[in-house]
Amino acid sequence: MASSEDGTRSWSNTKSLALHERAAKVMPGGQANFRGGLLSTPLFFSHARGARLWDVDGNEYVDLINAGGPGILGHNDPEYIDALKRQLDTVYSLGSGICQTEQDIELAEKIASHVPCAERVRFCVTGSEAVHLALRLARAYTKRPYFIRFQTHYHGWFDSVLGGVVDEHPEGRPLPLESEQSFFHTEGRVPDAFKYSFLLPWNDIDVLEETLKKYGHEVAMIHMEPILVNGGGCPPRPGYLERVRELCDQHGIVLGFDEVITGFRVGLGGAQAALGVTPDLATFGKALGGGMPMAAVAGKAEIMDQLRTGKVTGAGTFNGYPLGVAASLATLKILERDDGAVYRRIDMMQARLKEGLLDICKRRGIPALVQGPRGVFFLLFTDKPVIYSFQELMEAALPRQFKFYSTMPEEGTLLMYGGRWYISAALTEADVDCALESADRTLARI
Ligand SMILES: Cc1ncc(COP(=O)(O)O)c(C=O)c1O
Repeated sequence: MASSEDGTRSWSNTKSLALHERAAKVMPGGQANFRGGLLSTPLFFSHARGARLWDVDGNEYVDLINAGGPGILGHNDPEYIDALKRQLDTVYSLGSGICQTEQDIELAEKIASHVPCAERVRFCVTGSEAVHLALRLARAYTKRPYFIRFQTHYHGWFDSVLGGVVDEHPEGRPLPLESEQSFFHTEGRVPDAFKYSFLLPWNDIDVLEETLKKYGHEVAMIHMEPILVNGGGCPPRPGYLERVRELCDQHGIVLGFDEVITGFRVGLGGAQAALGVTPDLATFGKALGGGMPMAAVAGKAEIMDQLRTGKVTGAGTFNGYPLGVAASLATLKILERDDGAVYRRIDMMQARLKEGLLDICKRRGIPALVQGPRGVFFLLFTDKPVIYSFQELMEAALPRQFKFYSTMPEEGTLLMYGGRWYISAALTEADVDCALESADRTLARI
């Protein structure tokens, strides 16, 4: 946000719009990344420091997008940057993962020491790939074709895991329905992309039990976000994950947690350590690399060792590439330091934001709920004390939600699409107070 000397604020994105016009001639939609198009108005950025971002028009923002999750350390953390520079100086600077180094082992050892399910670790570059590999491992292990996923859980953009809507009255197996209503609707899938993918409402144990009674013997894997960050920061209902764990054991199904967001963000052990339920496989990405592309599958030895025997192939030229491994090692070392000082700082800033937002809403007579795990939350305009499902989320005041997040940039704070607040270790009290002022001004406008 540019401020003039008399203290009035002015915001314009003239230069960003010009760049958008130029971009649109060579880049579909004028954007390099799907998520770039999720900002309410085109913005191009020039530089960043700590928890602040500047766009090409000179507007300064408090950054609560944090690259959509990876940026747990904020921008330009000196120790992180130093680790990357040192890696670039080695002979492996341009290498792929084919040039193995000792740091690969060090990183896998670190992940195994923190993450309860991680007896073995395999590196990938993106979360989508990690999910792809986890599904293949589970199918090979169980020799079953189907998997179960849940409404509004996001597991990447590959054909069989993306979008669809729940079939409320399935005649047979509960396969997803293609629908333009789905946020992740896409044309261009293979026609039978959903043939082996059940889609169920989450946090509803009865639906899962009924489904498994009929089809459990055909199901290789249940994959879910253990805390539904992609659908409003919903926590699992008390006992839900524990019962899912029991059902998986009963039916011989591989339980997978998608920790691409929660991994290393809610704590070094991920949501599985925080919630005390250990899956068989888990997928990681985003915060693991602290800003560099990096992902991993971790899990039980007997499932993961199918990769060792060559029974399952998980390829990828850049999987385990040296710069990403160095970035991840640096990130984990920073997160481990002083018995989790970074997490304590994130907790403090998150609490300050939460209290401030609830105070502002109360003062303005707006019902408000702040929910989500450590490091990422939603401000929802509802008087419910907690939201457990996508259905409830839809009933909460969504239009205000969208107006709120899309107006916030003009008031100096960037939120992720839909109103998701990602906290980084770089956030200061002054940043929090700026973000709260942005929220107050935004609520006055909408
Ligand atoms: C829970 C979850 N799983 C998987 C993915 C896919 O990761 P990527 O975008 O790195 O392919 C995402 C991305 O947002 C995610 O949120």
